[in-house]
Amino acid sequence: MAGSGIAHLRDVSDDPVLRVEHMVVEFPIGNTGAKVHAVSDVSIDLLPGETMGIVGESGCGKSTTGKAIMRVPPPTSGRVMLNGIDMASLDAEELRDARGRLQMIFQDPISSLNPRRTIAEIVSEPLTIRWLEGFGRTLPARLWEDFVPMMMSWWKQRLIGLSVRIGLVAFFVGMFGFVLGTVTSHGDGNALSAIGTILMIGSLIVMAPTAVLVLVTSAIWLVLVVAMPFFALPRWLKIRSQRAAFQADADERVRKVLDDVGVDAETAMPKHPHEFSGGQAQRISIARALILEPKVIICDEPVSALDVSVQAQVLNLLEDLKDRYGISLVFIAHDLAVVKNVSDRVSVMYLGKVCEVGHPDELYARPRHPYTQVLLSAIPVPDPLVDPRSAAAISGELPSPIAPPSGCRFRTRCPRAQELCAELEPIIEQHQTGHFAACHFPLDESDWRGGSKTGLDLNAVHQP
Ligand SMILES: Nc1ncnc2c1ncn2[C@@H]1O[C@H](COP(=O)(O)OP(=O)(O)O)[C@@H](O)[C@H]1O
Ligand code: SF4
Ligand SMILES: [Mg+2]
Repeated sequence: MAGSGIAHLRDVSDDPVLRVEHMVVEFPIGNTGAKVHAVSDVSIDLLPGETMGIVGESGCGKSTTGKAIMRVPPPTSGRVMLNGIDMASLDAEELRDARGRLQMIFQDPISSLNPRRTIAEIVSEPLTIRWLEGFGRTLPARLWEDFVPMMMSWWKQRLIGLSVRIGLVAFFVGMFGFVLGTVTSHGDGNALSAIGTILMIGSLIVMAPTAVLVLVTSAIWLVLVVAMPFFALPRWLKIRSQRAAFQADADERVRKVLDDVGVDAETAMPKHPHEFSGGQAQRISIARALILEPKVIICDEPVSALDVSVQAQVLNLLEDLKDRYGISLVFIAHDLAVVKNVSDRVSVMYLGKVCEVGHPDELYARPRHPYTQVLLSAIPVPDPLVDPRSAAAISGELPSPIAPPSGCRFRTRCPRAQELCAELEPIIEQHQTGHFAACHFPLDESDWRGGSKTGLDLNAVHQP
């Protein structure tokens, strides 16, 4: 595949604020047994105050990586360490706290903000949720939250589904046989009715555990529904008595954070998201992400949907906030040019794998992985003497992540592919200090001569 391994991860003694090891995210496709291999053995790390750029063409697993770090959904396997603590080891309360330190902003700012809420409500929502959590949950609420998913998972068990189906079929066959036997023998009974009765009794025995499960589930549900309002009352009264003080404090913090992102708080707070331009809405999303004073913000294509003139403003804002709030950024984009300007380190992804990692200047001047060079050659050059048609366009489709190519995942589009590439997955290794790539036949000086516009043709299909 296009690259596994952790040679590019820094030492844990460098205190990475975020460290992702061997992360795999797979989405099952119905009951077919097939899976979308969206992220396959990805490892990245992030030091305090650093911006890590993640770049790659659409569909290569960038957003899934970002979301899996946030555990929405949790990775299929692998570890995500936040400040040295494995997120999977946290209980529900600790996870909520950790999520406060880890925030995400998205590509389309307007649709990522709730259209029915005011800006004041949207930006203060994370504070409100955390404040409400401070009152703890009532016993029935806790039981409800634990019990419902448990019951749902029971009900999804194959054994239960199978016993219900077999039981129902046997029951109706038995009923039919019994009625038929009774009618044809005018109530005296015969062989048919005897078989029907046996089938019906058998079906009741098969269904008995399921019937008990239905009764017990319903009883617990009923008790919880009746008990919940009663237990919730003292908590509700306490919240009510403290709400005014909380709201005043929250409004003050919302005002400050909106000012910090360059939005006039007094005008914006009563308005709704659709009343803002894309750039302003993205500033509001950033304010919402900042309100809990996170340590890491994952920015998923934060400027891709914005006008070019606004893009620079938002990028400058993120850079400024990074210093002011002491945060680290994971910056996801499909555009290498944007990533270069903001990142301290760049990871290039292809079809769910990391294929190259390095400092942007080094990686852009001396790419080692053929895929990185293709991405580089697609960056437009503001030079009238350079014919844009000479650049290798990123064309052709990514192979399906349901059945990714064997060996190196890039081999079906790689002009340098050889037999080995189909047989053996390249492991990421260091080529220059701080510069890593996963390729059996990496680029060297002769390939860099003539700059990134030397171009490789992604349409060239190699099937070694
Ligand atoms: N919930 C999902 N169910 C099934 N497949 C998904 C899901 N989310 C993403 N994918 C697939 O995973 C792959 C990676 O998607 P994504 O992470 O969104 O890529 P990127 O952000 O790089 O464009 C794509 O093939 C996408 O179709
Ligand atoms: S040369 Fe081989 S290993 Fe390197 S990117 Fe191409 S296909 Fe992959
Ligand atoms: Mg995406």
